[in-house]
Amino acid sequence: MNKLKLLFNYLGFLLKSKNEHGIQSPFVFELYTQIIKDDQKYYCFDDIESIRAMLLLSKQKINVTDLGAGSKVHSSTERRIANITKFSSKPAKYGQLLFRLANRFKPSSIIEIGTSVGISTMYLAAHNSKCTVHTIEGCPNITKIAKINFKKIGYNNIKIYNDSFENALPTIVSQHKTLDFVYFDGNHTKAATLSYFNMCVEKTSVKSVFIFDDIYWSDEMKAAWEEIKKDPKVTTTIDVFAFGIVLFNTDLSKENFVLRY
Ligand SMILES: C[S@@+](CC[C@H](N)C(=O)[O-])C[C@H]1O[C@@H](n2cnc3c(N)ncnc32)[C@H](O)[C@@H]1O
Repeated sequence: MNKLKLLFNYLGFLLKSKNEHGIQSPFVFELYTQIIKDDQKYYCFDDIESIRAMLLLSKQKINVTDLGAGSKVHSSTERRIANITKFSSKPAKYGQLLFRLANRFKPSSIIEIGTSVGISTMYLAAHNSKCTVHTIEGCPNITKIAKINFKKIGYNNIKIYNDSFENALPTIVSQHKTLDFVYFDGNHTKAATLSYFNMCVEKTSVKSVFIFDDIYWSDEMKAAWEEIKKDPKVTTTIDVFAFGIVLFNTDLSKENFVLRY
């Protein structure tokens, strides 16, 4: 999707999105006002952002193996770490939202599909040192950089798998009785996204939370998001443009919120 189309999608999002005044559900109201819109700073934010700042200054180039839908910015296999960080990692605003969501839902473990250099992984891991984050990255050289970052920040609750999602995800899923929190952030095609969703949805419970990245990234991702919303196990969804948040709590009605963030 080109930039103009993304802008057009964003304008469409702005037109249909609401703020807290349009929310009838007390659960979603609390989630939106207390968690999504919370602007409190936590100590870990500076630590993670200083690692990002160092990566953005790096002059090092690495060879990249792309197992996914590809990048809209890069074409060569040799890339600067600075550019990978700039274009693949979620900006601070969204990393911090992931942190707050994990902190709110208190998962016993987290699965992240798409590590890159590990910025979002660190945000997910920061909320509780007892919660293991299982994160998958297909590119060996990017995995090495992520591992260095995890060592630098000193988080010991991250387990990184240098493998394809297709290989690693079924194994990780099979090791869990239920999946509390899954962040889908790689291989943005409709088929791949739905296949990862279908692998994970079997293991949901009422407390599960799934977060889909870049639901407006392409027509395929928009179509995948529409399918996910229709899944019978899905109850409430919240679209904040950059993320689609999916809840399976059966106390909630089947309702799709589009909220400004
Ligand atoms: C958007 S980046 C992840 C960014 C990261 N979550 C963040 O916000 O900091 C997606 C990553 O998934 C990896 N990837 C894409 N498709 C894959 C696949 N099929 N198997 C394994 N890794 C894959 C890419 O190499 C890339 O580093």
